[in-house]
Amino acid sequence: MGRLSVFVATRLLDEIQRDLTAAFDVTFLDTRKPAGELTARDSAFDALLVSLDTPLPAREIDALPASVRAIATYSVGTDHIDLIAAKRRDIAVFNTPGVLADSVAENAIFLMLGAARRATESIALVRSGTWQGWSATQLVGMELSGKRLGIVGLGDIGGRIAVRARALGMQILYSNRRPLPAGHAIDARFFDSPGALIAESDVLVLACPSTADTHQLVDAKLLALARPGLILVNIARGDLVDDAALIAALRDGRVGAAGLDVFAGEPQIDPAYFELQNVFMLPHIGSSTIEARRRMGAILIEALSLWAEGGSPENRVY
Ligand code: GLV
Repeated sequence: MGRLSVFVATRLLDEIQRDLTAAFDVTFLDTRKPAGELTARDSAFDALLVSLDTPLPAREIDALPASVRAIATYSVGTDHIDLIAAKRRDIAVFNTPGVLADSVAENAIFLMLGAARRATESIALVRSGTWQGWSATQLVGMELSGKRLGIVGLGDIGGRIAVRARALGMQILYSNRRPLPAGHAIDARFFDSPGALIAESDVLVLACPSTADTHQLVDAKLLALARPGLILVNIARGDLVDDAALIAALRDGRVGAAGLDVFAGEPQIDPAYFELQNVFMLPHIGSSTIEARRRMGAILIEALSLWAEGGSPENRVY
């Protein structure tokens, strides 16, 4: 294959656009438009670069020009791409595993601390100009040291959350489909279900992918098993949580606080969250650091270049 032609459908930092332009013949979608507009294009290109803001359902993939042989997603998650449709057309799919895990893990700790130390109320109080000064009864939160952190999905990101949480003095518990091989989990205790895990956790972090099996994993039934005052943190995908069930549990105190970076149907957030002072919310910024963004660009450029030469990049999704 000669120089690869790449259609970039998502908006990227200028420096990443420059790197892509140096490596490939690149066409950028000038303004943010639904990926649907891609199908209206008649020019041929070899690869398509998308991200979470340019989803590719089956109908989009089926309508792509026949020349498209690869899709690169500027994300670790691939739930916005119909992988079965891509496979049917024999289109290779690449993502950005590993390179954003430190940033996302740091964000998980930020959410945990924000929820535990009542960041929403604290920030509102200072910014309102109504703060009356120090008081021993004011905004009493919870210390993380000595608490048990349950991680649903002790993979790459979950493992890096564990490293940081251990440094805060937390004990690590986890649930995965199966226990990690000896040595990989260090001192983390395995639980064979999220239900068994939540019953033993003071803080529960969701760090697993969104799949048919994990959809609304956190529902009323699971939350009924939680220890009173649980802190729930979601850095994965919004659809892992049944919002109505979490909102009810936050209202009645079974869940003491939540730290949420992701939401079902984002950016439309269930408005009930805005009324809850015990929720610390961020707008899906887990991987939004300059370091992660640079590495995400580099890993996709490397993968597409290697693939174009007939190689097998490790970050090929299938
Ligand atoms: C972010 O959520 C990603 O999947 O990269």
